[in-house]
Amino acid sequence: MDGADEDAWSGVAADWAALWGGFSDPARRAIIAGAGIGPGSRVLDVGCGSGEFLAMLHSVGAVAAGIDPAPRMIDAARSLAPDADVRLGAAESLPWGHDSFDVVTAVNAIQFADDTLAALAEAARVTVPGGRIAISNWAEGARNDLDVLERAVAEAAGEELRPDGDLRQEGGLEELLTEGGLTVLEAGIVEMPWEAPDDATLVRGVLMGEDADVIDEATPVLLAAARRFRTESGGYRLVNAFRYAIGRTPG
Ligand SMILES: C[S@@+](CC[C@H](N)C(=O)[O-])C[C@H]1O[C@@H](n2cnc3c(N)ncnc32)[C@H](O)[C@@H]1O
Repeated sequence: MDGADEDAWSGVAADWAALWGGFSDPARRAIIAGAGIGPGSRVLDVGCGSGEFLAMLHSVGAVAAGIDPAPRMIDAARSLAPDADVRLGAAESLPWGHDSFDVVTAVNAIQFADDTLAALAEAARVTVPGGRIAISNWAEGARNDLDVLERAVAEAAGEELRPDGDLRQEGGLEELLTEGGLTVLEAGIVEMPWEAPDDATLVRGVLMGEDADVIDEATPVLLAAARRFRTESGGYRLVNAFRYAIGRTPG
């Protein structure tokens, strides 16, 4: 599943929550530690998806808010994190006032903004002076087992995978923060395993959002490419990586 279309994200919200909702947890934990999030921290998660990070933030005592343009993601987030202030909207125009948050986060989300620098400026506007902005995203394809599967499917269809964007490269997130006027405090890379207990779940997870005829055609290719990732229990384990960077807003 890729792209910025909110209807598409709404359409996969239930599957996303079931299969990928917890996937970002290692990056979320790195952000909580690196940005010093704890009891009473006011935190906005941009592109909050089905709300798993909001629930985690609540569990460490933070006061969480979230925003996402996909209505069904918002429904899922509200139900998973009932204490959070969850609003429908996009990174480019945040419906909160200046200095509303101590920390703003965006995990696997800021790349979907039409203008990432404008989205970062909007995040900085709602963050207190001297606050933190933490962004995290897939590392370059060569570090991700998922890339092996997506490449096999694309090649079988006579297509090419889109090249890695700047934000996936080493230093890309730091460059964005610096360009946005922030001081980079910390950056790192975290391992992000994803497991599927059987063939059907692997197909559902990797081909999420695809049309039925595409799924029919791609399934045998996907299962063949995934053999090397099989576990002893008959499932699959993919190891991927996310980069993250944390910056301080001016002031
Ligand atoms: C890959 S999901 C990640 C969700 C969540 N952050 C996580 O880590 O599980 C990407 C999310 O970004 C949202 N999104 C797409 N375009 C966006 C935008 N312009 N501003 C904010 N969120 C956006 C999608 O609706 C989707 O919920």
